[in-house]
Amino acid sequence: MSERHTLRQQIRTRRKALSHDQQQQAAQALLERIKAHPDVKHARRIGFYLANDGEINPLPTIHWLWTQNKDIYLPVVHPFTAGHLLFLHYTPTSPMVRNKFNIEEPELDMDRVLPHSGLDLMFTPMVAFDQLGNRLGMGGGYYDRTLQGWHAHKLGPKPIGVAHDCQQVEQIPCEEWDVPLPEILTPSRHWRF
Ligand SMILES: Nc1ncnc2c1ncn2[C@@H]1O[C@H](COP(=O)(O)OP(=O)(O)O)[C@@H](O)[C@H]1O
Ligand SMILES: [Mg+2]
Repeated sequence: MSERHTLRQQIRTRRKALSHDQQQQAAQALLERIKAHPDVKHARRIGFYLANDGEINPLPTIHWLWTQNKDIYLPVVHPFTAGHLLFLHYTPTSPMVRNKFNIEEPELDMDRVLPHSGLDLMFTPMVAFDQLGNRLGMGGGYYDRTLQGWHAHKLGPKPIGVAHDCQQVEQIPCEEWDVPLPEILTPSRHWRF
């Protein structure tokens, strides 16, 4: 089995072992980091995600961002183009469905799709990261594809990774298509690379 596969399993197990209290504290710490983040104040349209598989929970943050009149967009698995994401406007009344990974996402409605280049910031989930900002995802390459333009030409929203501290590893074995992140937020630290 590949090193990346083993690492994914190991870190996913680690984050799923966090207690309810630890998860709640982490979600609150994430909210405080987002409140303090200089880019958030000026951002109008923000990409986020809903927690799955022990990921740090952005819901308290999303609720706060709504009070600040920010428009929130969530990733939806593209219905036709394999490996790609769409970003849909997310409000407290959005109808939700479960996708093929059993992850909750807004029901597809083309009127609510925003080309991801229209986002001002994109908070990205991940499985593991290292001290250089390298990112390992769940293995679908979705964010690598989404962030290709940003990586090559700085086109589109700046991605900011969010994770639990326990998702940091010594070194991610990278592939040529992996897009490293310029910033990562964890409960205990704001990483800039
Ligand atoms: N920009 C891209 N264009 C085409 N295929 C890609 C791209 N980025 C990733 N992939 C493919 O997606 C698959 C999963 O990528 P990987 O980096 O392992 O997943 P993740 O980033 O979710 O950990 C790989 O087989 C890779 O070839
Ligand atoms: Mg990758």
